[in-house]
Amino acid sequence: MEPFRYHVYVCTQEKPDDAPCCAARGGQGVLDALRAELGKAGLGDEVQVTTSGSLGMCERGPNMVVYPDGVWYSGVQVGDLPEIIREHFLAGRPVMRLLNADPVALKAEILENKRKAIAAMKARVAAQQGK
Ligand code: FES
Repeated sequence: MEPFRYHVYVCTQEKPDDAPCCAARGGQGVLDALRAELGKAGLGDEVQVTTSGSLGMCERGPNMVVYPDGVWYSGVQVGDLPEIIREHFLAGRPVMRLLNADPVALKAEILENKRKAIAAMKARVAAQQGK
């Protein structure tokens, strides 16, 4: 049995060198508003909210993942939160217009972004070492 009805991970990752990231696209504002709206809806003790680092869809943030459903939302704005709370957390119906419906494509995107991030990190290290 899960301790919470839902557990939501909201990406607030900030990335260097103007790389796309949820922080630059309003991730912290979404996180703060989600906590406030859940409290108003009486779900503060039912829906656990945790910040997360990059979820891998950095160009399309702010991103969040909802468990135990395994629903990955992208491009979530503060204005979307009442619908997510009403439809998903209260009625159990994920908001289709915001979720990533193709898990194969989602995984490919995440792995490609992971490869890019590792290459960028190696390039930064090499530049710092004068290579
Ligand atoms: S920075 Fe949020 S998904 Fe990558």
